[in-house]
Amino acid sequence: MLNVDILIEPDVRRALDSLLLNRPNLDPSSDAMEKFMVPYEKNEQFMCREALLLNLRTTLSELSPNEYNHRVALYGMGGVGKTQTAIAYVYTYQSEYDRIYWISAANEASLLSGFRDIAVRSRCVASVDKLDPRNIAARVLAWLRQQENWLVVVDNLDEIDLVEGLLPERAPNGHTLITTRNPNSEGIPARGLEVPLLEVPEGIQMLYGLAKIPRETEPDAAQKIVETLGCLPLAIGQAASYVREVSRSFVTFLETYHKRRKELHEWIPRGNRQYSKSLASTWSMSSIFLKNITRQLRNSSSTSLSLTLITYG
Ligand SMILES: Nc1ncnc2c1ncn2[C@@H]1O[C@H](COP(=O)(O)OP(=O)(O)OP(=O)(O)O)[C@@H](O)[C@H]1O
Ligand SMILES: [Mg+2]
Repeated sequence: MLNVDILIEPDVRRALDSLLLNRPNLDPSSDAMEKFMVPYEKNEQFMCREALLLNLRTTLSELSPNEYNHRVALYGMGGVGKTQTAIAYVYTYQSEYDRIYWISAANEASLLSGFRDIAVRSRCVASVDKLDPRNIAARVLAWLRQQENWLVVVDNLDEIDLVEGLLPERAPNGHTLITTRNPNSEGIPARGLEVPLLEVPEGIQMLYGLAKIPRETEPDAAQKIVETLGCLPLAIGQAASYVREVSRSFVTFLETYHKRRKELHEWIPRGNRQYSKSLASTWSMSSIFLKNITRQLRNSSSTSLSLTLITYG
């Protein structure tokens, strides 16, 4: 399989791929070939990232030559909303693509099983049973080179080495969207786009929206919560769930938070199936989080930015 980036005319490459693929005789328009493989439903509560979504669309589509056309890495600390932004992108621009595939790259096993799933469910590889996982991935990538208008999301790619030789080729006929905690998307052959922490007013908007508390109720406490939680969407989402499900008041939440912070960090909201980790586990996993917060504290006059989180981490 032609899986190296050497200079071969695209037409020649496609023809060679076709020969090597030993492709099953499938009608590509057949409904049996799955064309939308995304393990998440649309998040109707997604908010505050309209400008980022537009920027992402423009960057992925950009035709004027640059180093990494058509491949973008959304980067940022754990819980800042990279996966959520990728999900929102998928549903916002679904109609622009003929095929959308989602691969979790949290570890090698899930990455390779993602390719296997595509091979089986899109039926692009004749028979996967006797093939080793890397061979299957190479065949899926070769098949993708022959398709038009696809989007592949490679989610939670924190160990960059995992995808060596396993990223879809960059070409105008398809887009690759990566999410990673890697702070500068360094080492990833993709255009980096940061998913930043929210601004305080956005955080407040998110808190009210997710807690389903009427706007202007306990405004000082709402602002204090957002500042205390360092404007991190994961933390705001969990606080909002706690207010909605348990305390029904921002003031009460703050009191509880100051008394029983550790317990609240361990708490996992019932409804959040898209992110099952507690705040505590996210923070302890994310050394980047600590580094970034420390940097922000250094640069910021706002010391209210969650010293508590740092000591907890
Ligand atoms: N824009 C948003 N609107 C509403 N909720 C959000 C938004 N962004 C993040 N969240 C909340 O934060 C949680 C974590 O977001 P997400 O899974 O996207 O983080 P992440 O940056 O991918 O983290 P990780 O690096 O751990 O994978 C979500 O499950 C959701 O509750
Ligand atoms: Mg993620």
